[in-house]
Amino acid sequence: MNNETTGSTTALLDISPPHGGQLVNRMLRGQMRQAIQERAENLTKLELKAMNLTDLELIATGAMSPLTGFMGQADYQRVVTDMRLSNNLLWSIPVTLAVDEEDAANIDLGQEIALCENGNVLAIMEVTEKFGYDKKQEAKLVYGTTDEAHPGVARLYGQGDVLLGGEVWVVNLPAAAQSEFPELRHTPSQTRRMFARRGWRRIVGFQTRNPIHRAHEYIQKAALEIVDGLFLHPLVGVTKADDIPADVRIASYEAILRDYYPAESVLLGVFPAAMRYAGPREAIFHAIIRKNYGCTHFIVGRDHAGVGNYYGTYDAQRIFDNFSREEIGIEILPFDYTFYCRKCSMVVSSKTCPHGKEDWIYLSGTQVREMLERGEMLPPEFTRPEVSQVLLSGIQNKKKRE
Ligand code: ADX
Repeated sequence: MNNETTGSTTALLDISPPHGGQLVNRMLRGQMRQAIQERAENLTKLELKAMNLTDLELIATGAMSPLTGFMGQADYQRVVTDMRLSNNLLWSIPVTLAVDEEDAANIDLGQEIALCENGNVLAIMEVTEKFGYDKKQEAKLVYGTTDEAHPGVARLYGQGDVLLGGEVWVVNLPAAAQSEFPELRHTPSQTRRMFARRGWRRIVGFQTRNPIHRAHEYIQKAALEIVDGLFLHPLVGVTKADDIPADVRIASYEAILRDYYPAESVLLGVFPAAMRYAGPREAIFHAIIRKNYGCTHFIVGRDHAGVGNYYGTYDAQRIFDNFSREEIGIEILPFDYTFYCRKCSMVVSSKTCPHGKEDWIYLSGTQVREMLERGEMLPPEFTRPEVSQVLLSGIQNKKKRE
């Protein structure tokens, strides 16, 4: 690389400063890693739950910048009540380590513990805080409901009653980092470099937990018209049981990208986070994290990160109005509910189409799953046949395995 290229690359890396100003890196390397790993073997070991594992990976790589560990009480309480960390920085979702009272009783304040996956040490954490919390309050304020039928609330109610707070130092990423889509698991510093190398200055991030249907494609391409690159960033952490499994989704993304997207304007990466289904609050969380990955723009469409009927169709867009552009630090691109119109022969929204419901084709997630379970291709106006095909074989293979 000549000086000129290095210079411009560095400048590009600064285009979207991380949340809080600096990209966190909690991964230890070399001798330090070796020493900490050895020390950890003699510490009290705590097995992490699925969501903690992905949160740990996101903290380790800086995707959750400025977080350097699991939240202490002051951050937790302010995030729940005001959507801010204790230093006033915007943050909408608690990132916590819950344990039951028995485990908590065996851990003293100031003690170092080893965070583990199946007995293997991933990180050490200095437990600087141990505190009880009000699950109902968290449910109400973060999820907007105390209903146990909400998957995020159900997870919250099922977790331990004590939260441990403290910084983490990571010696090994969770096993999924090696076994699940390692070639797509770009870290924020890697995506920032990849964007810079491609010369992209304006990058739109797209969050999804579903296969790409025509409405997704439409809003992604509409956004791409006004930026340089699309960062397609499907979530691959824990989702609810009836969402389409990540491996089937990834195969469907690869199929559609191959045939319908220009390779030079799109980067596919996976987002190793658990889905909270917290709607508006999670939209902020998703946007801030994509800023950390280097995106300058972020798409928020209909009922972003929603589930059931807990949130209004555009609540996840409106929530951003409560904060200044400067503190969000990433441009939100809001999109209306889009669908295919037979008369227009294209994807539209009620903003762009004069026709009525009888001409519009839209399938709910449940209808999609039911058709795939029955072995039926989805209507081409709803999903490209290449995607339908991948979903169909994925779902049928899964059924055979069960
Ligand atoms: S999410 O839970 O990850 O948000 P999903 O994968 O369905 O769910 O959506 C990904 C993004 O596309 C979200 O920003 C969502 O609001 C948007 N979106 C999904 N379907 C539509 C649609 N028909 N019209 C407009 N936006 C949509």
